[in-house]
Amino acid sequence: PGFTVEVLPEIDSTNSELMRRARAGRSEAVLLVAERQSAGRGRQGRTWHGQPGAALTFSLGLTLAPGDWAGLSLAVGVTLSEALDQRIGLKWPNDLWLLDRKLAGILVETAGGGSGTAQRYTVVGVGINLAAPDGAGLSTAPAGLREVWPDAGPGEVLLRVAPALAKALQVFQAEGFAPFRPRYLHRDVLRDRHVVLSDGRTGTAAGVDERGGLLVHTAAGLVTVTSSEVSVRPD
Ligand code: BTN
Repeated sequence: PGFTVEVLPEIDSTNSELMRRARAGRSEAVLLVAERQSAGRGRQGRTWHGQPGAALTFSLGLTLAPGDWAGLSLAVGVTLSEALDQRIGLKWPNDLWLLDRKLAGILVETAGGGSGTAQRYTVVGVGINLAAPDGAGLSTAPAGLREVWPDAGPGEVLLRVAPALAKALQVFQAEGFAPFRPRYLHRDVLRDRHVVLSDGRTGTAAGVDERGGLLVHTAAGLVTVTSSEVSVRPD
């Protein structure tokens, strides 16, 4: 299944725009690129700032019916990192890291369809820093893709990641997270690191399970953490 590509000079958020269209009954397969977002959104209600001209911000909207939704954003992270550079690592659940700093984020949202395995209009939003943004106010300074790919422009980066992403979503729909898991583990930056969970627990990260849940050795034993429950940071 193909999709059309639409480029807008400015929008509040490419994710918000595709979710609005879906609610209005327009669940088109489309890749929406914004040259500038005035209200880019990150996970957990955070804002996402990309420097105009120095970030690639887009959302791919399409109808999916995977057997299991867990792991989708990890599969997207695997795909983006493989398409971009072998030095890019993955910070569970869905950040791309370059040399221990955040390079890109992924925000997956779904509209309609109810629960379980039903089809849902799915919006995969991706923000990639090309130049490293000003890290003021952030706990760790961000990274930019031009550190490893000098002169990378939004168009050429998009041309590299979009076909890979479209193919990966097909594979995910057919086979779930399983084929992505070893590839995720290969780039897992939390592995064996001491981590702090947002619910206060601490432990040592030990990879991900078959569904993409984070495994953590805690004082209470090995636990599996899902991304809807807690966030995690290395310590
Ligand atoms: C995160 O790091 O928490 C996720 C960041 C996702 C940012 C992208 S930019 C394109 C798309 N539109 C948005 O409003 N957010 C995503």
